[in-house]
Amino acid sequence: MEIDVFTLFPEWFQWFSAQRHVRNALVAGTSIQCVNFREHTPLSGGQVDDTPFGGGAGMVLRVDVLEAALRARYDADPVELRKRRRVIALAPGGRLLDDRLVDELAGEPALTLLCGRYEGFDERIVEHFASDVVSIGRYVLSGGELAAMVLCDAVFRKLPGALGHEESAAQESFSAALEGHPEYPHYTRPAEYRGWRVPEVLLSGHHGRIEEWRSARSRERGAAAEGPREP
Ligand code: ADE
Repeated sequence: MEIDVFTLFPEWFQWFSAQRHVRNALVAGTSIQCVNFREHTPLSGGQVDDTPFGGGAGMVLRVDVLEAALRARYDADPVELRKRRRVIALAPGGRLLDDRLVDELAGEPALTLLCGRYEGFDERIVEHFASDVVSIGRYVLSGGELAAMVLCDAVFRKLPGALGHEESAAQESFSAALEGHPEYPHYTRPAEYRGWRVPEVLLSGHHGRIEEWRSARSRERGAAAEGPREP
């Protein structure tokens, strides 16, 4: 998979790319390349943003700057580009990243991630250049970089060989094998600690009962996560 990240902070991704599980994905054939859109701005003084029409606080990333950066990278009109490549704008109001979307993105040969800053993107970027708008949660980060890393991390776990055990990914939280529920609880040695005993069924060696117990706990957790919160 080929991932291009458009950002004003490419150095953030050096740290990310140096982490072991990300390095493993890179060794296995995935690439992450950063494009600093400040380097491609047609405006003087490295300008990339501007004040919003209509007034208001903050600055907005300019559509002409994004177009110049996308053209520099792909030598194509960004309006055409999004027809053949997922171009994802990261923004708090976008489609929420969940396991289904991660699966979908993991099946793509290439992704382009656009990281906004300040108040976000000029809406024409979203309307005409992006194929998707993705959010990692209903809260506002200071930019799309961390969201892009979260997305990459989740996608890399889905790529063949990423986890060592193919089964680990198949049985992960929210997977089809767990009917979309969170994963069941795990325990390891010691079997008893400060009087807290590991559930007996897990020590029984009875695979059928263990499976049943796990699937029941996973369903319970799913219901608890969706249920009303205690005041
Ligand atoms: N940019 C700022 N906040 C974000 C969020 N919650 N998800 C994705 N991108 C963002």
